[in-house]
Amino acid sequence: MNNRIDQTLAEQMTGTTAAEKVATLFDYMERKGQSFYDESVTQLEHACQCANQARLHDASTTQIASALLHDIGHFLLDEHNAESDFLEEDQNHEEVGADYMEPFFVEAVTTPIRLHVPAKRYLCTTDASYYDGLSEASKRSFQVQGGVLSDEERGAFERIPHYQAALQLRRWDDLAKVRGLETPTIDTYREIVQACLK
Ligand SMILES: [Fe+2]
Repeated sequence: MNNRIDQTLAEQMTGTTAAEKVATLFDYMERKGQSFYDESVTQLEHACQCANQARLHDASTTQIASALLHDIGHFLLDEHNAESDFLEEDQNHEEVGADYMEPFFVEAVTTPIRLHVPAKRYLCTTDASYYDGLSEASKRSFQVQGGVLSDEERGAFERIPHYQAALQLRRWDDLAKVRGLETPTIDTYREIVQACLK
């Protein structure tokens, strides 16, 4: 087990009602999400902007929940932009977040969380204009995360259930870095997230 992963959230979410689980999770995100994700937005703003993209695109309940929670691994690892190694040292925040949320949420939520980093590699491999549109920070982390996919890797990715939801999540993720953008608050998603609990 990675000792840097905060276990307190899981402890507090275990053995509680659905409403309490979501309240605990959102309280955690509000407390931990005040640090900066990149040069433009806090981690909480990034989460809310991503969920708002999903909402604006009439996405399903599980897609909205995974958009809101997709970077929970950064929160749990206490990774943020004030740390010099953030984005350069890869701690697999997507795996950390998906594993951590798996006891609580359905697969349609956790699989896109797990795949949102390889989804960037997939899109960079298959869509030349996609790479050009990435932020500088995102281009840097793409190299850290492994770069272009081989044909085998690409085929394997396409066999994973929910991979298309992960590609969609990735595109919303990239749009969720707008300084000062007003979006609905995390409270907006209470019922949606609750509906995605196991
Ligand atoms: Fe993100």
